Amino acid sequence: TAEDGHRGWLRYAPVPQTGSYASFPTSIIALNSTRSSPVYTAGQELQQGINSILGKQLSANSTSEKTFSSIIVGTVDAYAKSYGEIDEAEDLEEDGFYLSTEGRNVVIVGQNERGALYGAFEYLSRLAQGNLDAFSFVDNPHAPIRWVNQWDNMDGSIERGYAGPSIFFRNGLVVDNTTRVAEYAKLLASIRINGIIVNNVNANATLLSAQNLDGLGRLADAMRPYGIQLGISLNFASPQTFGGLSTFDPLDPKVDAWWANVTNQVYAHVPDMAGYLVKANSEGQPGPLTYNRTLADGANMFARAVEPHGGIVMFRAFVYDNHINETNWKNDRANAAVEFFQDLDGKFDENVVVQIKYGPIDFQVREPASPLFSTLRNTSTAIELQITQEYLGQQCHLLYLGPLWKEILEFDMKADDRPSKVKDIISGERFRRPLGGSAGVVNVGTNTTWLGSHLAMSNLYAYGKLAWDPALEPEEVLQDWIRLTFGFDRQVMNTITNMSMQSWPAYENYSGNLGIQTLTDILYAHYGPNPATQDGNGWGQWTRADKFSIGMDRTVSNGTGNAGQYPPAVAQQYENIETTPDNLLLWFHHVNYTHPLKSGKTVIQHFYDAHYEGAKTAQEFVKQWASLKGKVDSERFDHVLFLQTYQAGHALVWRDSINQFYYNLSEIPDAAKRVNNH
Ligand code: GCU
Repeated sequence: TAEDGHRGWLRYAPVPQTGSYASFPTSIIALNSTRSSPVYTAGQELQQGINSILGKQLSANSTSEKTFSSIIVGTVDAYAKSYGEIDEAEDLEEDGFYLSTEGRNVVIVGQNERGALYGAFEYLSRLAQGNLDAFSFVDNPHAPIRWVNQWDNMDGSIERGYAGPSIFFRNGLVVDNTTRVAEYAKLLASIRINGIIVNNVNANATLLSAQNLDGLGRLADAMRPYGIQLGISLNFASPQTFGGLSTFDPLDPKVDAWWANVTNQVYAHVPDMAGYLVKANSEGQPGPLTYNRTLADGANMFARAVEPHGGIVMFRAFVYDNHINETNWKNDRANAAVEFFQDLDGKFDENVVVQIKYGPIDFQVREPASPLFSTLRNTSTAIELQITQEYLGQQCHLLYLGPLWKEILEFDMKADDRPSKVKDIISGERFRRPLGGSAGVVNVGTNTTWLGSHLAMSNLYAYGKLAWDPALEPEEVLQDWIRLTFGFDRQVMNTITNMSMQSWPAYENYSGNLGIQTLTDILYAHYGPNPATQDGNGWGQWTRADKFSIGMDRTVSNGTGNAGQYPPAVAQQYENIETTPDNLLLWFHHVNYTHPLKSGKTVIQHFYDAHYEGAKTAQEFVKQWASLKGKVDSERFDHVLFLQTYQAGHALVWRDSINQFYYNLSEIPDAAKRVNNH
């Protein structure tokens, strides 16, 4: 139902009763909790969740009382005061928790209040999945920064949003009613997200008006009970465009003082503000380069302003020139991030984190991991992922992103010939950095499904889970989500698992394969097939396709040199066409259409075949979903069926336009005589 969509994976649907529920605790004790505290929230959530899942009405108290068996939730310190020290306490790290159902009481102890809330959600998730086993474990986060970024504009529109207008802003102002904001915070807390940037990276300085600062205070108040800290994106030129100064030069003391003052005001409204996010000198945005200052000069200006308040600055590495000339064979947008940042390593203040998109270009269906992860050794970094399916079907196509993210997170950069997985770089472990983590672009809207598609919610769920623990298997994460979202039916489980796990390869097959990027319209919509737009543009998302050949030559020997931005072992692999995996062939090499792949097929025949194969899978999704009629409530069933039917049709459009385009260009016939055979 609409209500189910709204609650996402927090439906707390009743589970079949079994004998072991008889000895279930009779009360909840939330230690040391005041109304807006996460521990108080944990107590409330446990009470409602257990009532809904098990039909048991438990009392909730804030002090220890003598009952035979209770669920006790609180911080490790509060627990120690009432019940004595627990051995596991010393294993707890920031935001971590200890959960035990082994004794008479269920014990949920957080290193801090947030950790206690995470433990409560974990316990509820297990109950909701019918898991009543006795267990006991400590769970700590892999990285401290686990944020989401909303790209919401002040007028209520959302950049690359596909689920209606903003839940945060309307008509230039922060909304009055924060009900949806609190509901969103609850979903985020349940997947252990601890921070949110509420406004677009293409930021508008009017967010800093007195009225909007009040509004930000209200947003923070709505999310604080869930342990979600608010942060904001800033427009670099604000001192001039909003503050009335004659300059926004980051080394001008007036500018520095202006930001310090604004920051004090922000913290007066949001005392626990997480920090700032800054997009500078990118896609027309202002930045320090305007004044011949470095990007580090720019980032450090904000770092100085938030430092006394304990805040951090997420500074985006998505800096590139969007007017580059394709006639120069050596030009390459993929080189930009390393070129802009390599000389700045070690020059950022300690509370700056460089936020790096997972690949060198822009959330394409297939990219290698960004080489910048291995370049920055003395700078804290975070990975930027996109839950929003901007280039990937905009929530009208099914695309479960867990496997894509996992591949990047597990990628080994082999820095100094030592194991250097991306996940261990962004956690701060590999290069011994104090900060690090992930930022996920989400763009939920007022639509009751949050993302515009019920099945797309698996991406938000998986994002949080992998940010906390990248060692998890995406398929298992998916299956937890399916159970929580759709219940226990085996067929429902198998069908949604199959569809989701096939969805990335299918989309890659009918959109762009062999590392050629997502052959979508890149000039504006980023939607639907338009391979012609991939060349002759200043954006630098090129394929260099002509009558005979295709692909970006990113070798050092003959191309843009991009392969050489990776540490030697990886650089060698990509430099050599023999050792480059087929799925990145055209990312790193420019080859003839007749070039044979490792499979033995030619590049062009692979194109033709893959597009047929991918589109066929999309047709099967419709049948697979339709087989669930009666097993999923009709509202969600119909909504998904509508989208899958649409995807099936659009996949044919993709297949035929891409194949026709490359047939027209190369004039090489399809061996199976499907393309242009009419
Ligand atoms: C993409 C996207 C833009 C966005 C930009 C960014 O290019 O299309 O809408 O502003 O990324 O991440 O800054």
